Amino acid sequence: MALWDSKSNKIALFKKVPLFEGLTPRQVGQISRLADQVEVREGRRLATAGETGRELFIIVEGRATVETPRGRTVRLGRGDFFGEMSLIDGAVRSATVTADGPMKLLVIGQREFWELLNAAPSISKKIMSTLAARLRDADAAYSKVP
Ligand code: CMP
Repeated sequence: MALWDSKSNKIALFKKVPLFEGLTPRQVGQISRLADQVEVREGRRLATAGETGRELFIIVEGRATVETPRGRTVRLGRGDFFGEMSLIDGAVRSATVTADGPMKLLVIGQREFWELLNAAPSISKKIMSTLAARLRDADAAYSKVP
């Protein structure tokens, strides 16, 4: 993974990501140093089901595909995040996530993830609400299977 344009204004970038909406300038300043800006090529595997993973990814540009071990496919795009599950419970990745094309991402490591949640409770709320939506969605999909 290559770090992209170190001159890009990370703070301006953070303001465009829904996960970080509504933060005070102080909070944005505090958390922007917790993330790395990373660029990847098409086909790059960002998470592998069953393997250890210790990062949260936030999509700034591009799209990714999530493939669950039961064969479901979910597409993610700009503003979406993934990798939160392993950070929260310490278990292996629940799905494989691959870049559909070139992507720009913000990447947050495990220790920084907890710092992020402490710095801004609104982020915890958004992550919990996305987790709940993913659970409902997965449950609805599995209950259709005979
Ligand atoms: P994690 O288990 O850490 O790594 C794979 C990621 O894929 C997972 O975190 C979620 O972010 C994402 N993911 C897993 N299942 C789904 C799903 N059903 N819908 C959307 N995203 C998912």
